[in-house]
Amino acid sequence: IEEAPNYRFEKISICDFELLKECFNRYNVNAVINLAAETHVDRSIIGPATFVETNINGALNLLELAREKHQSGIPFRFHHVSTDEVFGSLDDNGIFTESSPHCPNSPYSASKAGSDHLVRAYRKTYGLDTVISYSCNNFGPFQFPEKLVPLVIRNALARELIPVYGDGSNIRQWLYVEDHCSALDLVFNQGKAGKSYAISSRTEFKNIDLVKNICRIIDELKGGGPREKLIKLVPDRPGHDYRYALDPSSIENELGWKPRFDFKETLRKTVIWYLDNSDWLENCINGEYRNYYEQIYSNR
Ligand code: TYD
Repeated sequence: IEEAPNYRFEKISICDFELLKECFNRYNVNAVINLAAETHVDRSIIGPATFVETNINGALNLLELAREKHQSGIPFRFHHVSTDEVFGSLDDNGIFTESSPHCPNSPYSASKAGSDHLVRAYRKTYGLDTVISYSCNNFGPFQFPEKLVPLVIRNALARELIPVYGDGSNIRQWLYVEDHCSALDLVFNQGKAGKSYAISSRTEFKNIDLVKNICRIIDELKGGGPREKLIKLVPDRPGHDYRYALDPSSIENELGWKPRFDFKETLRKTVIWYLDNSDWLENCINGEYRNYYEQIYSNR
């Protein structure tokens, strides 16, 4: 990352209250955008405790430091980044909005819902200036290959089996990461205190169709297909939510946000990025994260 004069990178766990506090004071922090979290549902099924520790207690640490600043008279904005998964599962119809009730089904989404409630409570109880955003599934460069899109690209390139859970009919909305960033920028800078914003591309696919699409892009770029043959339907994820869908009307109407990127183009661009960065991809799996990765995929 190129360092701008007004930019500093500090690698600190949000679970470490003392180090966070020291950092908040050193830089006179007056705002937080909390994207720090344990994010992978399958890992939360294997070990929920880390998710509670990071996603709830870690968020609480940030909120406590924000409260301290706020109560000492420093205007402080707290933007909490959440997920469509806190609302639970939909059938083929229906859509979630910011006012849908939280109804989480996995330890991951329950931990994110818990932190959403804490943020809400800090608004109501202490008057902290908070905003929450909920996003649908992201894709793009540098995504860790435990997530569906980079996992499929990686396995298709390595000619390993591509695990699709259940019958592959589950539905997700997909948003290019830079569109998510532009939405976060707006919510952070212009969102109304105490409000929540749903961020979504409205572009939804069944998992199996997305996976086949990625296989076809790689066949086209590299030849030697069809890689669809690598797809293997594997036992379903326990408690697997059937469908998520968010309605982004309020961020569109109130803040004027619109996704700029075309899905087909950015999916292709994403595949090309992973082809060009196959060392990075393999290092995720064989380098320092090997144990982490194997824990999930050893039984496939
Ligand atoms: P994922 O990227 O884990 O995101 P989330 O569960 O948060 O939506 O998974 C996206 C979808 O793909 C989800 O329905 C689960 C499914 N999936 C598979 O079918 N196979 C896989 O190997 C993975 C990781 C996910």
